[in-house]
Amino acid sequence: MNKISFGISILDSILKEGYPKQSLVLLVGEGGIGKSVFLMLIAKHRLELGEPVLFVCLDNDPLAIIESFKSFGFEVDKYTEKNLLGFIDCYSFKVSAIYRKNLSYVLGIADPKNLNQLAKTIVEAMSRLSVGKGGCLLLDSLNEIFLYNDLTRVSDFLKEVRYIVIRHYGASFFATIHVGLSKWEELRSMIEHLADGVIEFRFEPSLSEAGVSVRQVRVKKMRAVPHDSNWYSFHITKEGIVPLKVKIRVSGEIQEKRDDDKS
Ligand SMILES: Nc1ncnc2c1ncn2[C@@H]1O[C@H](COP(=O)(O)OP(=O)(O)O)[C@@H](O)[C@H]1O
Ligand SMILES: [Mg+2]
Repeated sequence: MNKISFGISILDSILKEGYPKQSLVLLVGEGGIGKSVFLMLIAKHRLELGEPVLFVCLDNDPLAIIESFKSFGFEVDKYTEKNLLGFIDCYSFKVSAIYRKNLSYVLGIADPKNLNQLAKTIVEAMSRLSVGKGGCLLLDSLNEIFLYNDLTRVSDFLKEVRYIVIRHYGASFFATIHVGLSKWEELRSMIEHLADGVIEFRFEPSLSEAGVSVRQVRVKKMRAVPHDSNWYSFHITKEGIVPLKVKIRVSGEIQEKRDDDKS
């Protein structure tokens, strides 16, 4: 099976063999935890390997994503110019065309209410980007689709796009899910069982209680790859994702909380 690394040290040390290239992987966690940052770094790695990347943006417009890439010092212009990085804009579809910037790397504009149109736009854009030599599709986030469509429809859409992306184009498919509201739990449990991989994020709960926010990530599942499911701490800097060792003071003593602790 063809496997590939994430290019993010914290995930590469958990998944030493990498992840199967042809898979649907979900990034699940509450808002602000870092899902979009991980998605961008996954894209960066695949672009640097010379593979095409198609970004379906629902939470933000393409220009904002380009700016986020640049905020990590990643100059993406050469990839958009080479037609290796493209976007489907599902954010500014409501805005009249006269206000919309005409950006060459926006390969389609789609309304997330119309999932047949969105699936068609994705497939057309993938053929324009010549995805097939690998590459990946990134969708951020599924919640926006769930806002306008019932769960069965979201699930059918995902199965259809997944089949085409993975089986026809041989690409990877990453999607994010925000959790936190009870109605989103339904989305999460329905979609998680469809996925080949689930990467979960949280703020470390005992430290959160004390008012300290420490971001953590774990690999909950990954098809055909051995891995542990422990939580690993990290922080986000201008350089990207930096693994973190957390120390907790218990009864006056400092105890190091090892990243591989199950507690
Ligand atoms: N260029 C950057 N440099 C440092 N930190 C950043 C940068 N971009 C984003 N972040 C951090 O990432 C956090 C948001 O993560 P994000 O991936 O947008 O969350 P999510 O997608 O899970 O809602 C921000 O609150 C900020 O702390
Ligand atoms: Mg996000």
